[in-house]
Parts: sequence; structure tokens; C-alpha cells
Amino acid sequence: MGEHQLKNLLDQMTVEEKVGQLVQLATPFFKGASDRGEITGPMVHMNIDEDDIKRTGSVLGASGAKETINIQKVHMEENRLGIPLLFMSDIVHGFKTIFPVPLAIGCSWDLDLAEKSASIAAKEAAVAGVHVTFAPMVDLSREPRWGRVMEGTGEDTFLNSRFARSFVRGFQGDLENDPHKVASCVKHFAAYGAPEGGRDYNTVDMSEWQLRENYLPAYKAALDEGAQMVMTAFNILNGMPSTGNEPLMRGLLRDEWNFDGVLISDWGAVKELIPHGVAENEKQAAEKAMKAGVDVEMMTSCYVNHVEELIEEGTLEENILDEAVLRILQLKQKLGLFDNPYRGASEKEEEDYILSPENRKASRELASKSMVLLKNEGTLPLQKDQKVALIGPFADNTDILGPWSWGGSAEDTVTVASGFSQYLNEDQLLTSAGCGIETGTNEQLEVALEKAAQAEAIVVALGEHSDMSGEAGCRADIRIPEVQLELLKKIRSLGKPVTAVLFNGRPLDLREVTENADAVIEAWYPGTEGGNALADILFGEVNPSAKLTMSMPYSVGQVPIYYNRYNTGRPEGAPDAQERYVSQYLDIPNEPLYPFGFGLSYSRFEYEELTLSSERIRQDESLSVSVKVTNTGDYAGEEIVQLYVRDLVGEVVRPLKELKDFEKVYLHPGEEKVVHFTLTEEQLRYYHANMEHKSDAGEFEVFVGPNSRDTKSERFRLDRK
Ligand code: GLC
Repeated sequence: MGEHQLKNLLDQMTVEEKVGQLVQLATPFFKGASDRGEITGPMVHMNIDEDDIKRTGSVLGASGAKETINIQKVHMEENRLGIPLLFMSDIVHGFKTIFPVPLAIGCSWDLDLAEKSASIAAKEAAVAGVHVTFAPMVDLSREPRWGRVMEGTGEDTFLNSRFARSFVRGFQGDLENDPHKVASCVKHFAAYGAPEGGRDYNTVDMSEWQLRENYLPAYKAALDEGAQMVMTAFNILNGMPSTGNEPLMRGLLRDEWNFDGVLISDWGAVKELIPHGVAENEKQAAEKAMKAGVDVEMMTSCYVNHVEELIEEGTLEENILDEAVLRILQLKQKLGLFDNPYRGASEKEEEDYILSPENRKASRELASKSMVLLKNEGTLPLQKDQKVALIGPFADNTDILGPWSWGGSAEDTVTVASGFSQYLNEDQLLTSAGCGIETGTNEQLEVALEKAAQAEAIVVALGEHSDMSGEAGCRADIRIPEVQLELLKKIRSLGKPVTAVLFNGRPLDLREVTENADAVIEAWYPGTEGGNALADILFGEVNPSAKLTMSMPYSVGQVPIYYNRYNTGRPEGAPDAQERYVSQYLDIPNEPLYPFGFGLSYSRFEYEELTLSSERIRQDESLSVSVKVTNTGDYAGEEIVQLYVRDLVGEVVRPLKELKDFEKVYLHPGEEKVVHFTLTEEQLRYYHANMEHKSDAGEFEVFVGPNSRDTKSERFRLDRK
């Protein structure tokens, strides 16, 4: 169906039918849905009837070829003009084969594997009848108290933007010709990752300079990569809720960025304009959201109950409604739904493809590249002939998929204990929980200590229940629960080698863990194959290579803490710094416990001979940067070589370091490689006070190293043309 036919279709639609396209309801409202429960209550609550449902444009959360085909079949019979439904779901880090949470994927610094994970997720979802995924979530965050940091890839703008592109490419690919791809909906627009106090849905208030420099680029990267949809954020920005924020949505997203795709509200966010205090009632909420350019209202009924009236009374122009409906019809057209409303849905392909050995293998590989080795005082890798005690609430726990893994299942998940059984026979492996996530008994503790006492090496698997992060999963105390710390200390007192493994959805205050273990691995939520991936690392099959993409704070008192900070006028440690009157705490250090970019390997990598091709370049020239990296260890392994830049003098303050590039190199023991980077003037641009994005002539410092702290540096000058 071409553009002309779409417009013809629009002309045939009544206003009620047009408004229906702007409505998104969850599956229980639809006949043919397996979970179609008692819906008269919700329908009354929303003041909608069966005819409204027949006119609905899209479904939230449906999946399964059988279910989506049934729902679509009924709908096509009941919708007067035969306009097919769009099926939209949260496929964030896997559908049935669950991959590590995105924060873990970020720590892999592996853009290709990130893309591959999204591609596998897309095909598993597409054969299950899903058309759109509400992903990637690209909300930059420096806030580990916020539960949704697990859903993004960390604190760095450059890296988040690169991952945003990889995820969109993986989900969408050649969307119009490949039924095994899904449309990508980038979220949450905008700056949802900066809530005051780290409390979800809370106020976001920042300068346009900060917003454009750090928080907006990843959304733009996703859209530049072709993301078809955008989802509004729950938070306010510049005093206005995003969902009713006309300057943000029409001014920036649609007019400045030329986004002409579908803009969907987050769940209930249109109606939430009322508690936000910017709409008196649902009618005003509908007016504000429509005028802000929000096309689809998720799970509330302000549009369906008030848009027609707003048009009739002249408050809302009908062309605003027509534009919204046309965008939705165009997306349905792009997905080929007018020709085939069932698109990729196939029970046969579900059977053949979902959770296939290849998909599991991909998840296992990405998980092993996402786990960060934070400490290792000779304890790892474990020997395969040892007797090992595996202790802790995550020793044999399937809760390692993390939030937003609703399609995954416990029975498909490989626990740590089952992963260990690939390497140890049953009389070598002693397993005991020792305590729960937040509570424990003396009996549990005694049993665990008894088993640990028999072992040569002890692995303690600790962390957060997956409900302790994710949406509305915010914590003011970012340590692991006290009962687990007590267990670790008791295990430590046995005087045997102890490895602590963490399963959690945010950077934690790991001081007490680090003090009471010889080795520490941050495993995040590693997904369906998490137990195998961890065992591969602990027993040396895989040499860990992951590096943090969010700073691990020394204490929650440092938050927000991030590597690309500004120097201030009174930096601690400056040559003329006074003892007291500098930017510091009286009780803790300024530095994080583990910095951005940090991660150890079983190898050791030496950096030498940092060389710049010139001491000065003109704006139309580029600078070559090289460094020699040598594997001086006993294991072959991957090293993520990082390149940072500091603009020593700007019109506005400039960060002490900014990541500008990175390269993963694989080196055998004794092998060396000269790693080359190219820096261009474009990479030196920043937002000036007047929001112009440009570079300045002047002095710059280039840093290269294994993380954002331990770097070598050289300077160069950028001259005007
Ligand atoms: C939730 C989340 C959003 C998700 C949506 C649909 O509230 O904020 O990320 O896509 O609802 O499940």
C-alpha cells in the first residue's frame, strides 16, 4: 500500500476510528488472547467499550505466534476497515534466550556481540508475532541508586551512542524486507536517567548545555541509525513532564531532529500529566499530549474519551490527529502488515529457533565477556582438580536473568551450580546457600560453614534480588544486604582462598566485599547461560576482559560520581592546594572504588611508547595516536585499549577526560601490538554557552590506557584553519 493509498484509507476513517489508532491496550482486552481475563472492570475504569477495542491501533505485551495470530485474526474480522494491529513488547536484552542486562553488555565493550544479541532477540520475538520492541533504553545515568541503570549501558555519552546504534541495527536491520526484524523504539525521551535522589520517576532538572552535551546524544544516535519510534519519559524536564513537553517533543525531536516516526507515551504517562499538576483533567491531558506530538497513548484512555470532543470544539486541529494516525499507518505499512497482518509469526519457526543451541551459545559468550574481574590476588582461575565450596544465595539460584526478562524462564536458566558441574564432578563441588538475599538462619550459616571448611577454594555468590533494581527498584543504600556480608566475613575467617561473585543490577558499594575476598567478579545479571559463563571464567576457559562502563562508588555519598567530571576551581591535589579548602570530603576519598573503564584480566598488559603523529594539527587535519601494548602475562587475552582526550581550555568548563575511542586487541603471552587511533577535529567539538557545537583552537591532552585512571598522556595543539 503506497502513501497515496494510506491517505485514501485515512480519508475513509471516522474521527472515532482515527482516535482508535492512537490507543494501545494490553493483551487481556483482546479476544483470542490467552490471558483475556475479566476485562469489564478495567473497561469501566477506562470508560471504553467493545467498539473502542475493535478500533484500537496496537497491543502491548502480546507474544507467541498462536496468541498474536488469534488476536489479529479476530481483530481483522471486527475492524471495519481491516486495519491490522501492531504488537509491541519490551524485548530489552533477549526474548526467550535472555542475554546479560544492557549494563553488563556495555561492560563487554563489544559492539558486534551487542548487535548480535539484539538480532537474535528480534528474530525470536518476530517469529512469536512481535512487531515492535520498546528498546534500546539509552538513558545515560550516573546514578546507581536508580534501579534502571541496569537497562542502559552506563555513564559515558560516546559509548552509549555507539551501543545505541548497535542495538538498533540488531533489532531493525532491513526491517521492511526482513520479517525476522522488529521496529525499535528508543527510550525514554528524555534524560530519565538523572532523577533527583536516584528515585524513579523523580524530578529531572538540568541545563540545556548538560542535556545536549551528555544526555541527548545517545537518543540522536539511535534515531540516526533509523529507530522507528520514540517513547516519552515519565520525568519532567525544564519544568514540564516529557509527555506534555511541546518544546522537547515538537521543538527538538520533531522540528530540530526531523523525527517523523511514531512517538508513544510511557505506560499511563498521558494521564500522569494530572498528578504532575500540568493538566486539570483527562481532557486537558489529552490536549497537552496531542499538542506535544504524542501519537500513541499507552494504557490510559484520555485520547479515546476526549480527542473527538477537543476537535469538535476547535481546541485541537484535526490535522494534528491526522498526522498522528498517518504516522501509525506508515509504520504498519513499513512492517508490511497491510499485505500480511501476521508478518513473521510462525509456530514452526518458534519451535526451531527460540532458545536454540546457537542462541544459547551467543548468550554464554556475551555473558562471559560482560563479567568484570575487579580483584584477583592469585586466586583465579580455579583449578579443576580442587574441591570447591559454592556458597551464597546465588549459588544455585535462577534469579540471574535480571529485570525486563519477562519472556525468559527459570527452567531454561543455567545456575552457577549447574555451570560448575561442567567442570567439577559431584564429590568436588559442595553447594550451600548460607543465607537468603535479605534474611538467613543460624542453621543455614552452620551448614554453609561446615561445607566451606571441607573445601580447598571457596566461591561466594552474593547480590541483589532482581526486584531490587529495574523499574521502581531504587535503593538509598547500595551495599549488598547485611546478612550476606556477615556470611562472607564468616567464610573469610576460615582462612581459605575466597572468590566473591556479585549478581546485581547497579554499581554497588563493594568496600566490605573487596576487603573480605581474594578475588571479586561483578557478574551483573548474566542471563540464561549465566552459570555456564561464570564457570567458563572461574575455571580459566575464558580469560575475563570486561571493563566497567559505570564507576563503582566508594560510597553512595559520592553519587553522582562519574569519570568525565570537571576540575572545579579548587581541585584536590593541585600544586597550590590548601589542606582544607579544596573540593573533597572529610570522611571519604573523591575517587570511586573502581573507576570507569576498569577491569582485570588473567593476563597483564603493558602500555608503552604512546606516540602522536604531530604536536599540532589544523582543523582540517587528523592526528594519529599509537601505543604499544604487550601481554606480559601467562594467558592469552583481550584488552580494551581506551583513548581519552582533555580540552585544557574551553569557553565552558571541559571534562578532565572524555572517552573518544577504544579498540579491543587479543594478545598471546609475550605478544605485542601497536594500536593506532585517529583523532579528528570533529571529535573535539562541544556545546558552547550559546549551544553552538564546535571545537576551539588550543591545547589538548591525549590519554591512553586500560581504564580512565591509569593512563599515559601526551599533548598536542589544535590550530585554526
Ligand atoms: C514501563 C516502562 C517502559 C516500558 C513500558 C511498557 O513503565 O517505563 O520502559 O516499555 O512500561 O512495558
